[in-house]
Amino acid sequence: MRIQVLHGPNLNLLGTREPDVYGSRDLASIDRMLVDLARELSAAPGEVELVCRQSNHEGALIDWIHEDPAADGIVMNPGGYTHTSVAIRDAIAATEIPTIEVHLSNVHAREPFRRRSLIAPVCVGTIAGLGASSYALGLRAIVEYVRARRNA
Ligand code: DQA
Repeated sequence: MRIQVLHGPNLNLLGTREPDVYGSRDLASIDRMLVDLARELSAAPGEVELVCRQSNHEGALIDWIHEDPAADGIVMNPGGYTHTSVAIRDAIAATEIPTIEVHLSNVHAREPFRRRSLIAPVCVGTIAGLGASSYALGLRAIVEYVRARRNA
């Protein structure tokens, strides 16, 4: 199965960006951890194929969601677009690619504007507040979800 990990705006700055909120781990190290986890989760070599990408541009994220051939699942941290992007929500709804929304921080324990996600209603589920583990749990969840759908 092919899984896309999509990181939205400002996540390229992880490690130096508000470390008290987002931790001191940089994005490359999160991606490496996910690649290792994909290998670990694979029932046979290469079963879980991972593509990790980051963009500060809404349209680039949407183009990756539209990609043909389509991914079997997406793990996405939409960053600030979580709270504003009708277009990213529409892309997930249009492609019907099962998506897990993830956040490093607990968006519900921060400013009120972060409590609303335009993306969550079109996602399979949301994981927030666990730092880099939010991504790891998101990857485990999407792999299980895609397998369950295939076996249904
Ligand atoms: C974030 C939370 C968002 O509110 C914020 O705009 C981000 C990061 C997180 O991972 O905690 O850029 O998605």
